[in-house]
Amino acid sequence: MISGSKPILFDPLKSYEDNYLTGPYDVGNINYVEPHGRPSYSFLGFPIYSPFGIAAGSLPTSRHTTAAFCLGFDVVVYKTQRSTEFPCNPFPNILPLQIEGDLTLDKLEKPIFVRDDYPTDLRQLSITNSFGVPSNGPSVWMNDFQQAQTGVHAGQLLIMSVVGTIQPGFTAEDYYADFARSAQDAKEAGAKVIEINLSCPNVASEGVICYSPDAVFEICKQTKAAIGDVPLVIKIGYFSHDQQALLERIVDSTSNFVSAISAINTLQGEILNKSGKQALPGKGRNRSGVCGASVKWAGIDMVRRLDTLRKAKNYDYEIIGVGGVMEPGDFIEYREAGADVVQSVTGAMWDPELAMKIKRRLDLIA
Ligand SMILES: Cc1cc2nc3c(=O)[nH]c(=O)nc-3n(C[C@H](O)[C@H](O)[C@H](O)COP(=O)(O)O)c2cc1C
Repeated sequence: MISGSKPILFDPLKSYEDNYLTGPYDVGNINYVEPHGRPSYSFLGFPIYSPFGIAAGSLPTSRHTTAAFCLGFDVVVYKTQRSTEFPCNPFPNILPLQIEGDLTLDKLEKPIFVRDDYPTDLRQLSITNSFGVPSNGPSVWMNDFQQAQTGVHAGQLLIMSVVGTIQPGFTAEDYYADFARSAQDAKEAGAKVIEINLSCPNVASEGVICYSPDAVFEICKQTKAAIGDVPLVIKIGYFSHDQQALLERIVDSTSNFVSAISAINTLQGEILNKSGKQALPGKGRNRSGVCGASVKWAGIDMVRRLDTLRKAKNYDYEIIGVGGVMEPGDFIEYREAGADVVQSVTGAMWDPELAMKIKRRLDLIA
């Protein structure tokens, strides 16, 4: 049985603010284990020891990213930030879910129920997360992102994730420009690679923008103009097979601007407690994102289709596979599906040794 330990990078039983101010936990004596030899993988031209890391989410400060790098996660994303201050949704922000096997699109049509405890077998661990992409604004995160860069070892890569924010009086154009503004801030803070989050389902009144081709085109065009030669990554959600033409249109229209595509974000469902009531407190939180073991099928499916598409059309984007990577075998499955880099959030939260296990599997460390 694969079992996890206590989440140290981000503790779901503590508030976001507590995690932000006092996390990560119990990381005092992690000693970074440097793999032997030189980094033999690369991503977007950067040499990396292993094509594995942590996607945007569980690492909201430089202390968190530094701990993740020490734990051997080599391609790490700083939690998505904004051009303005934005509050976190009320606690709790993470709950364990009762899902048997894959969370298929059919199952997503029906409510999903919360369970009492977090399973120790990580192959049964699925959670909902609902933070609302909180941010302390650029005056805080830009400084901290600079600090985060001091925790990166040779053969590791830190990516900055940003998102646009609809503010009072904003037109759609202002909103698109806000992605570019935040990305420019990320570049100024020293980001070597910038990811824009086009896929967060929890963000009040912003919707999931990755399914709107004109908006995605404008955002990518403006963001790329703002960041110049810094590689741009887009983080997208799951596209069903009925949405294949839409996916292809979006990939084609942005291919001149985008260096890598990260997929997937969470799958969105209706989340109820055991008495059949809305599980997460507050307006608009009857639906929230599901991640962990049960969404792996969707991440693998997207990676396979993005890989097929780039081969068929000669695109040169790289692919980051995300979703349900709980153990080294999942990482291998993603690589075989065509992912250049694989990332985990839920799995890496509950198993801080996941990167070391994968490095051992790749014979990079003893
Ligand atoms: C606690 C938590 C916070 C997250 N926050 C973000 C975020 O700020 N930006 C983003 O693009 N995705 C965010 N995500 C989504 C993850 O990056 C990832 O796409 C999703 O969780 C699926 O991967 P997993 O099954 O390995 O968790 C978050 C996920 C979790 C669990």
